[in-house]
Amino acid sequence: MKGIVLAGGKGSRLRPFTYSGAKQLVPIANTPVLHFPIRQLVEAGIREIALVVGETEAQVREAMGDGAAFGARFVYVRQEAPLGIAHGVLVCREFVGEEPFVLYLGDNVLMGGVAGFVERFARSGADGAVILREVGDPRAFGVARMAGERLVEVVEKPAVPPSNLAVIGVYAFRPVVFEVIAGLRPSARGELEIADAINGLLARGCRIEVEVTPQEWIDTGKMEDILAANRLLLGALERRIAPGARVVGSAIAGAVVIEEGAVVEGCEVVGPAVVGRGARLVGSRIGPNVAVGDECLVVNSRLEEAIVMARSEVVDCPGIVRSMLGRYVRVEGAPAGARLTLGDHSRVEPGP
Ligand code: TTP
Repeated sequence: MKGIVLAGGKGSRLRPFTYSGAKQLVPIANTPVLHFPIRQLVEAGIREIALVVGETEAQVREAMGDGAAFGARFVYVRQEAPLGIAHGVLVCREFVGEEPFVLYLGDNVLMGGVAGFVERFARSGADGAVILREVGDPRAFGVARMAGERLVEVVEKPAVPPSNLAVIGVYAFRPVVFEVIAGLRPSARGELEIADAINGLLARGCRIEVEVTPQEWIDTGKMEDILAANRLLLGALERRIAPGARVVGSAIAGAVVIEEGAVVEGCEVVGPAVVGRGARLVGSRIGPNVAVGDECLVVNSRLEEAIVMARSEVVDCPGIVRSMLGRYVRVEGAPAGARLTLGDHSRVEPGP
């Protein structure tokens, strides 16, 4: 079985971060989100993986390499434009050949992994398989219309949802899907839709297995979901203080990870939280639900529910909450309760 991970797209809903970077590399709990789908595919025994890339190809290649670090072999497949998820699959036709494959959206994470799903699909002999999850408001998703246990149709963003079961970003197919996609027309938004590919398979009488997952599913494609994703992935961490980290006169409570070379001085750190390599925290209260990236500096500040990406500085900020700071950001003197969304290289300076 092979893997396809989509790491292209526009990422328009994640601006300002996607002005300067690929959305699949946004760090969640200090790990680029794209690592999770890759690790999970490898765990499921899938090592030959195509990474579909667009304009941000160079960055993705640089960050991910040839796959060896993950125990995988990557093939980069360029999608000339973000023409839809099904189009991202179509460009991998040669890579896939005659094998079944798993498609994983590179900004999605299914907690608990996909090994069981992959094994059941391999055994089933079905032409495809999708994972469904109950959601509160299905109107923003591809939604399953079921007849008992059987999938009848996927309805994209329905005004009147046929169920509360959303199709999540992990799918399995046999190569017959390429024939269906090759015959698709672009949707109203100009994309080849994966929902149409699934419906096309169903229309041909192909068998698509469904399973409803009880696991949390993270889609980091939208800003408001990123902090929730950070919370979930931080929640899965175990306490670890690297031998080369220096913790001086500080109270560290709960699931806190402090990486190699970090210095924590006169601080209170409340887990879940992660402090990146070489970061320096002084006289601050960090956490819960905070990820401070590599080489950051936090002085005399308080951070709660926040992502601070690598090489940023926070100084004299008595309460930054529910915030996302890009790389090389400097914030000084932001008032208590400040909620910030700052792209790379932003600056917030104290008033007069
Ligand atoms: P989406 O989040 O649906 O699309 P997008 O990246 O264009 O984002 P936005 O709507 O905010 O502009 O894509 C899901 C995943 O698939 C994501 O990792 C990007 C990737 N993708 C591709 O690689 N190629 C594509 O043509 C599309 C549409 C998405």
